Amino acid sequence: MTTAMQTAPGGYGHPAGIPALRRVIAHWVGRSRAVEASPDQVIITAGAQQGIDLVTRLVVTPGRIVAVEDPGYPPAAGLLAASGAQIAPVPVDSEGIVVDQIPVDSSMVYTTPSHQSPTRVTMSMARRRELLHFADDHNVAIIEDDYDSEYRHSDRPLEPLHRLDTQGRVIYVGTFSKTLSPSLRLGFVALPHSLVSHAIALRSLIDWQPPVTVQETLLPFIVDGQLDRHLRRTRKVYTERHQMVTDLVHEGAEAGLLVSPSPSHAGLHITPLLPTGTDEVAVVARVRANGAALGNHVQCWLRHDPPAGLLIGFGATPTARLPAALPALRQALAG
Ligand SMILES: Cc1ncc(COP(=O)(O)O)c(C=O)c1O
Repeated sequence: MTTAMQTAPGGYGHPAGIPALRRVIAHWVGRSRAVEASPDQVIITAGAQQGIDLVTRLVVTPGRIVAVEDPGYPPAAGLLAASGAQIAPVPVDSEGIVVDQIPVDSSMVYTTPSHQSPTRVTMSMARRRELLHFADDHNVAIIEDDYDSEYRHSDRPLEPLHRLDTQGRVIYVGTFSKTLSPSLRLGFVALPHSLVSHAIALRSLIDWQPPVTVQETLLPFIVDGQLDRHLRRTRKVYTERHQMVTDLVHEGAEAGLLVSPSPSHAGLHITPLLPTGTDEVAVVARVRANGAALGNHVQCWLRHDPPAGLLIGFGATPTARLPAALPALRQALAG
């Protein structure tokens, strides 16, 4: 496939992405996640973040309520707030977002059902159905951010909301940030037909198109089966790291330094809580001073009295460095 074939007159590419890649992604996400979307419903984006941005601009008028999970993914909540939406934080329990606490006058819900960010809860099937009923009853759009479902360490992901939705309310957001690299800035949205032409027009106003060269690099990577091979290889690596960090967290819990999170078998991070009264900021500073990377757990919360906790990501930490990082973490926790 040559660049000339993929670009529009004047040298710009198609705002929705090169057709061949849209086809391949529609097929890939259908095969891997049972998402039913035709190629023309798929728009290539600069990561999940641009997908959320596009959808928000199309669906949410400033001042309207958007419900987000609390705790949740700060870049999404920040973007939604910046768009002028009124943010409604909704708690998460062991089955996912608590639907009966979503304001009925919400225009959109942003959720991470496969692997709630950051708690790691998988939204139960009953809760998925409840959320979809809620959306139907109150005419609410749903953004389903499926950011890391490729990495499940010992079970299979449940059917996405998108698959269960019969009314075209769910917009599915995918990304290559976890599977390949966040620096690529490549993701996609699967939109209901009614939004496609508006999204394409909007995308071209924002930045014309996704970069053609990057798309043309990704295309054969998927078509030739390299993405599948890469996923098989990285799953093994991440499963090993997940086990190592899980063991550390259990050790920390046995020593009374941490509160074990509810079990989860997915993703590239673990979020244990710290005992009540622990100064999270001080612990994180000590861990970082020891050279270990740690996310900002406290920033995931919108409510004012969040529990202390740790956001331990292991996607970017080489496995060989984990044995050294673990004692450092233990030492920092001990004070
Ligand atoms: C919940 C969630 N969504 C999306 C992403 C990826 O975003 P992007 O594709 O914009 O890099 C992440 C990355 O950590 C995430 O945690």
